[in-house]
Amino acid sequence: MNGIINEKLAELHHSVRRINYLIDELGAKSYLEVGVFKGRTFRQVNAAEKYAVDPDFHFKCPEKFNPNEAYFKGMSDDFFQSLDPKKKLDIVFLDGLHTFEQTYRDFCNTLAHIHDESIILIDDTLPSDPFSAISDKARSKGMRKICNSDNTKAWHGDVYKLVFLIHDFYPAFSYGTIKGSGNPQTLVWKSKFKEKRLPIFDNLEIISRLSYFDLIDNIRILKIDTEVNVLNRCISSFLPGVE
Ligand SMILES: C[S@@+](CC[C@H](N)C(=O)[O-])C[C@H]1O[C@@H](n2cnc3c(N)ncnc32)[C@H](O)[C@@H]1O
Repeated sequence: MNGIINEKLAELHHSVRRINYLIDELGAKSYLEVGVFKGRTFRQVNAAEKYAVDPDFHFKCPEKFNPNEAYFKGMSDDFFQSLDPKKKLDIVFLDGLHTFEQTYRDFCNTLAHIHDESIILIDDTLPSDPFSAISDKARSKGMRKICNSDNTKAWHGDVYKLVFLIHDFYPAFSYGTIKGSGNPQTLVWKSKFKEKRLPIFDNLEIISRLSYFDLIDNIRILKIDTEVNVLNRCISSFLPGVE
């Protein structure tokens, strides 16, 4: 592990940079991206074996698949349903529908396909304002208009609740939220050691009803840090001898 993001990686879009850094450092081979859109990230990820999932790709998928790439045009639920139960994935990027329920289901489906050193990168975990955090996209847009806050179209939905859920209900996983060098994203990996983490809400219904302001009040739950610190915390937890 060199612990620094080299100049070539630094020029890349934040998701590509983070994912390719993990691939380089961990020798990861298989990559799944849920929600691909124009393929800006997917095309530049340097994994040996890549899976793209989107009901509405905004580019022409290759008619003949590259031997190392597979495109699934459809919802993530259907993709996971079709995936060989024995298939293990090294890196999974969850960037599909920005709702708590869908991203949580994508996370649960992903858990069936990970191994001890797999990594899950979750997008949209830090909404930029209360409008961006509304789970319904049309309502978020409508509320922005009514409140004269439509100088931005940012919509992150309520994916942040998934981080609260991981904190309270998935103690076997470590995580950190990257902020400050491109869009915030949360990186999740299996802990080699038991992290001391006492549940804070300890109630699924309360978590599902949290608001943007509850998020701000409890922002420490996201474990926000710089890109380099979160990536290196994750990578170093896989080094032999690190406990
Ligand atoms: C923010 S874009 C993805 C951007 C892409 N990951 C990138 O880095 O450039 C979100 C995408 O998720 C897709 N999407 C929405 N619902 C989905 C679902 N249930 N399963 C998979 N993809 C979904 C949308 O069609 C859209 O293209």
